[in-house]
Amino acid sequence: MKNPDSYICITRLGQECFIKEEARSCPVPPQCTELAPGVVELSGISEQQIRANGIFFACQLLPQPVPCSSQSIKGWAALLLEALVNSIPEETEAWGLQVFDQSTAETGKQHSRARLIEQETVALLKQKRRSLLRKLSKDPSKHAALAQLVLTSPDDGYLSITSAPQVKALSPVISPFRAGYVSIPDDRLPPSRAFKKLREAQLRFGLSFRPGMRCADLGACPGGWTHVLVEAGCRVSAVDRSPLDPKLMHSKQVSFASGDAFSWTPEKALDWLVCDVIAAPEKTAALIERWLRERLCHSLCVTVKFKGSPDFGVLASVKRSLAQHCVEHGGKQLTANKNELTVFGHLAD
Ligand SMILES: C[S@@+](CC[C@H](N)C(=O)[O-])C[C@H]1O[C@@H](n2cnc3c(N)ncnc32)[C@H](O)[C@@H]1O
Repeated sequence: MKNPDSYICITRLGQECFIKEEARSCPVPPQCTELAPGVVELSGISEQQIRANGIFFACQLLPQPVPCSSQSIKGWAALLLEALVNSIPEETEAWGLQVFDQSTAETGKQHSRARLIEQETVALLKQKRRSLLRKLSKDPSKHAALAQLVLTSPDDGYLSITSAPQVKALSPVISPFRAGYVSIPDDRLPPSRAFKKLREAQLRFGLSFRPGMRCADLGACPGGWTHVLVEAGCRVSAVDRSPLDPKLMHSKQVSFASGDAFSWTPEKALDWLVCDVIAAPEKTAALIERWLRERLCHSLCVTVKFKGSPDFGVLASVKRSLAQHCVEHGGKQLTANKNELTVFGHLAD
């Protein structure tokens, strides 16, 4: 039986309690149950609350999960086929099928049992429901509806089928990628691996950096994020105490300001603030609030870094700032994030 107010969060191992802490800041805190390591169920929480509050520490969300069991691959495939036929409307543009266990959220790897269940389900669809199979897409950017099965043991799991409107409404908490894992290809051009965080944020949050946009990159050295912006054709004011990679220092699109990221202010409002500065989370929270309140940028993408355990009070204040000022906002612990979260927000035009 589906419970409309129930959601499974997939999280990194050891971070189950982060989901509980984060959910506690909801106006009506839901009940949290650890179903398996890295698999936490929230019950008594509405879709509207999930959208408003976000669950940033969830790698992936499975709305209205149904517990199910089978002892064989064929049994799993039959179970999936029945659920798909009943729940994916014929008019759905494209849908995704994702079978995984919790470890996929951390490694991106799909265990063989999960892969075999997917393959067997596709084979059954081919025999029995070609019309549905035709709409099955492997491209996450095309997924409208999503069928997810998380295995908590070889024979047990939770199935969730999310309609196209719900996938859209719950973005970015619900990810089009399997178990929320995003793999950004290596690139030798940017001067640091940090570029992966901004590329992933672009993909996950649909951020758009366009030619001619004016951006500030605070805490920019050595320049991975600035590189992403320059490549997109933006003009960048890069601020750090240390200079960027020489190639970026000589770029006509980059102006470098040596100094403190927290006291720097643009002469006029910018299109983007991106910020990856290493600082106490409360300093970053205050920076986000100032840039939004004073409308110094139209959009922002900022990493909030923690020392040791996350500070959920600060996280709640960041969420309040985003909710108060932005028409669209959210955040996540991206695959490329370590002990940090990435948040974004857009002001009204
Ligand atoms: C994680 S690194 C940024 C990496 C960068 N996003 C990239 O892609 O290469 C953090 C940077 O913040 C800078 N930083 C820390 N505190 C700062 C401050 N108060 N003002 C300016 N820069 C600061 C450090 O010098 C460091 O270069």
